[in-house]
Amino acid sequence: MEDLIHHLSVSTEENRVQFREGFAAFAARHDLSEWEGWFSPCDEEVHSQILRNVDECDEVLDLGAGDLRLALRMAEQVRRVYAVEVSPIVLGAALREIGFALPRNLHVICANALDMAIPPGVTVAVLLMRHCHHFSEYFDRLLAAGCHRLITNVRWKSSVELIDLTRSRVCFDQVQEGWFACRCGAVGYVGLGERSQNSAVEVSHCPTCQRC
Ligand SMILES: C[S@@+](CC[C@H](N)C(=O)[O-])C[C@H]1O[C@@H](n2cnc3c(N)ncnc32)[C@H](O)[C@@H]1O
Repeated sequence: MEDLIHHLSVSTEENRVQFREGFAAFAARHDLSEWEGWFSPCDEEVHSQILRNVDECDEVLDLGAGDLRLALRMAEQVRRVYAVEVSPIVLGAALREIGFALPRNLHVICANALDMAIPPGVTVAVLLMRHCHHFSEYFDRLLAAGCHRLITNVRWKSSVELIDLTRSRVCFDQVQEGWFACRCGAVGYVGLGERSQNSAVEVSHCPTCQRC
């Protein structure tokens, strides 16, 4: 497995598709804004954090799975992994590299994750996509499908968080001082900085989404 991950990582540069002919039209067709459709794998530290937060009972949905290197490692640890990646270039190259080493419990899907039904039984979703513009859609769709845990770097960018999607969320107006994190994907600080060390309050709407 280590060799395979190494081979996948050395071909990372070749798989960066954003500058290839046709990518702009592909991205537009899939409603991928700005850097959202760019393949840029997360580093070892981030992937290790994810691996520490899944176990053998989990069925994981890896949204924007890139070259499958995290999905392969998760598949060694959990019951099943559904890896969804929109880019046929990135995924095709990864599958060619993996070949017959593809594990039976790793289900690979080349599709826009927002177009497909979430498989039943998914216990946790992984969304490593710092430039994601569709966080609230993923949030709502996962919750509706009965998935309660989301591990993501979308909201805080440089750090990964484990979100309990079922957790109760307060109205933005109730936050007088401190960090907030909204189900729309926005984060921010209200006040003068007196509680900047405290963890963020989960809110149901915020000035960015104006959602109640
Ligand atoms: C920043 S890369 C991260 C790759 C991988 N998750 C990792 O950590 O190494 C984000 C990936 O998400 C994919 N992606 C973006 N939007 C997607 C969508 N709507 N459906 C499926 N994949 C998507 C991109 O093509 C890209 O490969």
